[in-house]
Amino acid sequence: MWDQVQETVNYINKINNFNPEYGVILGSGLGSFTEDIKIEFTLPYNEIPNFPVSTVQGHKGALVFGTIGTKKVVAMQGRFHYYEGYSMKEVTFPVRVLKYLGVKKLIVSNASGGVNPDYKIGEIIIIKDHINFTPEHPLRGINDERFGPRFVNMSEPYSRKMIIKAKQLAEELNIEVKDGIYLGLQGPSFETLAEYKMVKILGADCVGMSTVPEVIVARHMDLETFGVSVITDIGDEANIDSISHDEVLEAAQSAEPNVRKLIRELIINY
Ligand code: HPA
Repeated sequence: MWDQVQETVNYINKINNFNPEYGVILGSGLGSFTEDIKIEFTLPYNEIPNFPVSTVQGHKGALVFGTIGTKKVVAMQGRFHYYEGYSMKEVTFPVRVLKYLGVKKLIVSNASGGVNPDYKIGEIIIIKDHINFTPEHPLRGINDERFGPRFVNMSEPYSRKMIIKAKQLAEELNIEVKDGIYLGLQGPSFETLAEYKMVKILGADCVGMSTVPEVIVARHMDLETFGVSVITDIGDEANIDSISHDEVLEAAQSAEPNVRKLIRELIINY
C-alpha cells in the first residue's frame, strides 16, 4: 500500500505541488463547504490513480484544493463507506494520500442519529471520542512502520486543543454546539430501536456509518484530528419511524451554514 500511496501522491504533486496543511472530509452536512474555498484545482476521484469511486446518492467524488484565508486545504468532496462494499483499507486510502500531500490536520464531518435525549434534529455535535463497532479494522494485517506504529495510541483520537478552539469560536459566532461520543457501525440499514438503545447503553451519544476508520488511520499517521457530526434523526420510540435517507439529507442541509462557518473559522484561527 505504501507504493500505491506514493504513486497517487506523485501523480497529484505533478499536476500541482500544492502541499495543503488541512484536510477536510465533507460528509452529509458539509457538502457545500467547497464554496468557502478559493479553489486552485479540482481532481475527480475517477481521474486519480488507485482511488475508489464514490457510489452513494447525495455524495460527490472529487478532491478540491484551495485556500481558506491564508491556509491551504484539500477537501474530499464525498467519502467512501464500508457499506458500499469497499474494504476498510480502501475506505481509508484517501486519508493516507492526504497525509503525504502534506496534510497535518484532518477535519471530518458526518451525519448521525442521536440517542442522547438532550439532542435535537439539526444540532451540531463536536465529536470528543468514538467507539469502534465496525466489523473490520483498517489497520488489520501487516503493519507498515513507515505509516505508523503497530499499536496505535487512541487516548486522544480528537484533538483536545482543536475542540477547545472550536467551542470558543462557536460561542463567538453564536452557534450552538454540544459535544458527544460517536459510535460507528457498518450500516447501511439504520438501527432498530433495540440497537439505538444498545448504542446509548454502550455510552455513545450518536451513531453513524463513517468517520471511525478514517480517524483511526489518521491517528496511525499522527494527524491531528477534529470531528463534527450533525444530528439528522433521533433514535427513540417517538421518532424512529420517520428515519430515512431523505430526512437525513434534509436535516444535514439545515445545519450546513453553521457547520461551514465553524469549520472555516477553525481553519483560519487554529
Ligand atoms: N444511524 C446510522 N447512521 C446515520 C444515522 C443513524 O440514525 N443518521 C445519519 N446517519
